[in-house]
Amino acid sequence: MQPVVVITGAASGIGKGIAKKMANGYSLVLVDVNSISLNAVAEELRNEGAVVSVVVGDVSLRETHKKSVAEASKIGTLTGWVNCAGISGVFPLHALPENQTDVMKVLEVNQIGTLWGCAEAIKSFIDSKVNGSIVNISSIHGRRAYLDHAVYEMTKAAIDALTRNAAVVYGPYGIRANSVAPGAVMSEAMEQSFVDAPDPKGRRQWLEMTTPLKRIGQTSEIAEVVEFLISPRSSYLTGQSICVDGGWAASLGVSELDQDLALKYGLNEKTGLPNKND
Ligand SMILES: NC(=O)c1ccc[n+]([C@@H]2O[C@H](COP(=O)([O-])OP(=O)(O)OC[C@H]3O[C@@H](n4cnc5c(N)ncnc54)[C@H](O)[C@@H]3O)[C@@H](O)[C@H]2O)c1
Repeated sequence: MQPVVVITGAASGIGKGIAKKMANGYSLVLVDVNSISLNAVAEELRNEGAVVSVVVGDVSLRETHKKSVAEASKIGTLTGWVNCAGISGVFPLHALPENQTDVMKVLEVNQIGTLWGCAEAIKSFIDSKVNGSIVNISSIHGRRAYLDHAVYEMTKAAIDALTRNAAVVYGPYGIRANSVAPGAVMSEAMEQSFVDAPDPKGRRQWLEMTTPLKRIGQTSEIAEVVEFLISPRSSYLTGQSICVDGGWAASLGVSELDQDLALKYGLNEKTGLPNKND
């Protein structure tokens, strides 16, 4: 039997990309609140020969994670867990909504959802005496600040702290935990953020311009790193938060270009993006 991996937030975007990557080599338990999209992803993967179970549920409830462990035990031995489900929250700190519900929701899904996921994964690894691996999806927002993102950033920094704790406390038993901190990645959520932006084209260009690799990442590029971290190929890697962000978090801001090199590579000398005629 193949090892089993639980992936939360698997109905869309980065979680779906991770599920597609891991369907070859692992049996999967896919978790999401969106039952229609989740079942569509599961069906697509089953048609390609993958073993896939689904749990429709809210990650902020511990019960959802307990159900995921129970589903995993029906198809094999749980050896990996990816906490990817997350929502954004854009609130100015000086004018947080009086109604606490929206703010608490971001904390509950991102932070508490990942906490329950880690807790149930570790409990299962210990019960089965398995050297399991956990990957939590945080964000470059966990280490860099951006306008009106205080609440979201707090949850993502908390995920990195939780990851370190799990790695240090359970390392002696061969359990590993790492987080992946994506930069701008083209998911359904990102597409929606362009639709909602007052200037979608300008917003997209700003993201591309400020990223040293001058483009938005693909979900498959996050999935590559997650798969590596779950696999034994990363057997000496634990307690880390790895930015997969085209160099964004390494930068001091919009980088000026070497004018001769920009010309040689056919790039706009101000933005670093390809010239339109090329
Ligand atoms: N896309 C990016 O640029 C980016 C950058 C950094 C970090 N991230 C993080 O990556 C993760 C995935 O983001 P994405 O862009 O793919 O978003 P997405 O909206 O495309 O996918 C998120 C998935 O999580 C599910 N989900 C939301 N709340 C849930 C809940 N309470 N219980 C169960 N499932 C729930 C959604 O239904 C959806 O299927 C998030 O944690 C996000 O914070 C994304």
